[in-house]
Amino acid sequence: MATVRVDGLDIHFETTGSQSPAVCLVHGTGGSAGVWTRQLDGLADLARVIALDLPGHGRSEGAVPSRIEDAALVVARFLDALGVPKVVIGGHSMGGAVAQQFALDYPERVDGLMLIGTGARLRVLPRLLDLLASDYPEGIRLLMDLAVGPGAPARLKDSLHRLTAANPPGVVLADLRACDAFDVLDRIGTVRTPTLALCGEEDQLTPPKYTRFFGEHVAGAATVIVSASGHYVQMERPEETTAALRRFVQALPRD
Ligand code: COA
Repeated sequence: MATVRVDGLDIHFETTGSQSPAVCLVHGTGGSAGVWTRQLDGLADLARVIALDLPGHGRSEGAVPSRIEDAALVVARFLDALGVPKVVIGGHSMGGAVAQQFALDYPERVDGLMLIGTGARLRVLPRLLDLLASDYPEGIRLLMDLAVGPGAPARLKDSLHRLTAANPPGVVLADLRACDAFDVLDRIGTVRTPTLALCGEEDQLTPPKYTRFFGEHVAGAATVIVSASGHYVQMERPEETTAALRRFVQALPRD
């Protein structure tokens, strides 16, 4: 666990490995660096892996970024503070939106793009937004019901529920509102970096159609649909997910 000062805020991050390339991983709605535990371990021999808590999440200070563009700027400033000029940027769900935005806004800083359980447009069920605003615990329950596949172990579901519900009321809602406003369907095809898009075949929040879209619209993008997994594919199927990320990182052109 480490902390770096970014524009007056303490930003917490987890890091493993030391060699090039640098891989920066961005968590999703109501999450933290803790959603990447298995990938922090599983990529450590290949890369310098860095997983941050976005402002207002986990142990980082500050307010939750209200727009995906603002979160992408935070990631850029965070990498500046660490002295990391270029990265393979990866993200899950909302974090995948941040990764896409980062690739669009700072193409010269991106060596590769890893999109995990995400989409180029992330409309949110109106009922979910309404419930989170009117009855937060019930809204979290609905979100968690949609978040993992039917075969996910009860302990994983419980720990994800605890992690998400531990956020102060408002964090999850702010994240989902940022997702709801995110739409780069018309722009993502301009990305010219090696790209991997991966999701669980039972993902109800960002269905496989969203991942296939990347394969059809981003030049050379590889897609992987992981069987027997819902939205939290990096936690539900950590071996398969990490293996796909490893193959992607190993195949990247070397400087
Ligand atoms: N990639 C590819 N296609 C996408 C897309 C993406 N990221 N996002 C939307 N589309 C497609 C839809 O499949 C749909 O295609 P269709 O007309 O052929 O069926 C079309 O674009 C419009 O979809 P959308 O913008 O989502 O509006 P909608 O009114 O059809 O549906 C929801 C709204 C909220 C019901 C729907 O987006 C949904 O079920 N979302 C998943 C649940 C959720 O809340 N996820 C949270 C994400 S963080």
